[in-house]
Amino acid sequence: MELVQWNDRYLIGVKEIDAQHKYFVTLVNELHSKMQQHQIREIKTEIVPKLVDYVRKHFKDEERIMRRHNYPGLQEQIKAHQEILSNVNAIVNSNADAFPMAMKLMRLTTQWFLDHVLEHDLRLGKFLNSA
Ligand SMILES: [Fe+2]
Repeated sequence: MELVQWNDRYLIGVKEIDAQHKYFVTLVNELHSKMQQHQIREIKTEIVPKLVDYVRKHFKDEERIMRRHNYPGLQEQIKAHQEILSNVNAIVNSNADAFPMAMKLMRLTTQWFLDHVLEHDLRLGKFLNSA
């Protein structure tokens, strides 16, 4: 079973961001299924780096879009992004074994996705679509 099921209520109405959010769901489900199969090496060398890169790129892209449109919540979002990234870095750079490390990363990013997208990104989408 998939860890996160895509739901159209996650759509914020901004193509580029929606595509990235969908890709996140794919990625986190891939991680989840590799963990169920105990594919430790692949998790460590492929999926985790992909997920971390994704998070970094996604935040940068969102911030670029917000800046371009003078989004009033920009500073707040940057702060939230930095906090998540520092948590992601702490998890990835810890000396924990791949499996518990990946488990923590999966929990953190999934929680972030569900909370952040449904609250902040939807607000951003409304702002951009009303401009
Ligand atoms: Fe986002």
